[in-house]
Amino acid sequence: MEIIILPTPDEVGRVAASLIASVVRAKPDAVLGLATGSSPLGIYRSLAERVRAGELDLTGVSGFALDEYVGIPLEHPESYASVIARDVTGPLGLDPARVHVPDGRAADLEAATQRYDDDIAAAGGVDIQILGIGANGHIGFNEPTSSFASRTRIKTLAPETRRANARFFDDPDDVPTHCLTQGLGTILDARRVVLVAQGPDKARAVAAAVEGPLSALCPGSALQLHRHATIVVDEAAAAELTLADYYRYTYAHKPAWQRFE
Ligand code: GLP
Repeated sequence: MEIIILPTPDEVGRVAASLIASVVRAKPDAVLGLATGSSPLGIYRSLAERVRAGELDLTGVSGFALDEYVGIPLEHPESYASVIARDVTGPLGLDPARVHVPDGRAADLEAATQRYDDDIAAAGGVDIQILGIGANGHIGFNEPTSSFASRTRIKTLAPETRRANARFFDDPDDVPTHCLTQGLGTILDARRVVLVAQGPDKARAVAAAVEGPLSALCPGSALQLHRHATIVVDEAAAAELTLADYYRYTYAHKPAWQRFE
């Protein structure tokens, strides 16, 4: 695991975007794993700026979203299909036909989740998965006690996750109770993973994911099993890391040939 601690949330977005850009430059038809939530917005902003400046071409990439609410109308502004279209597909100039979101409206949800995993496999697997982390340690919508081997499936949202996401809805009761999410096993199949976190509310979850025991109580700790995970956090989100000085030292001494910016 590589842990990069940066002074500001803006730097987090910029450096994580540089990593993603390096993956796409090496493989113009890369498959991106797309996260929603506020954490990756800085990444998308930075990628969009590079596209606008003509430094990066994302027209060849495909994308697979991590998750979707069950039962939410497609056109609802907070459906993840809408959020991905608004924050990612449009600004980054992706081909909408190659951007996929789990179908939370399917009559047969189990078949829809199986199809989603099949579609990821048919696209050749995810080259780089973007992740945020919930204050309770969830990644995607894999709530505590999710199996490390889980695949895309239906989950019940934890009450605290519904409360956290109530800010996006007019009425807290409007937050759906269920979701479809890529499983921890699905996420671990990605060739690379980049997790971003900003702010003090994420400090405990980041420390548990990076340094805590491998535990179903912190789904983010599953990333300790990944061969190529990069964790990019600001100082506030790094506040509870025991080995923060070591991570700063390691990043400062990163060999030029290993740097992606
Ligand atoms: C959400 C998403 C996750 C996200 C997490 C943190 O509800 N399903 O993908 O990483 O919770 O959200 P935020 O980035 O808004 O803090």
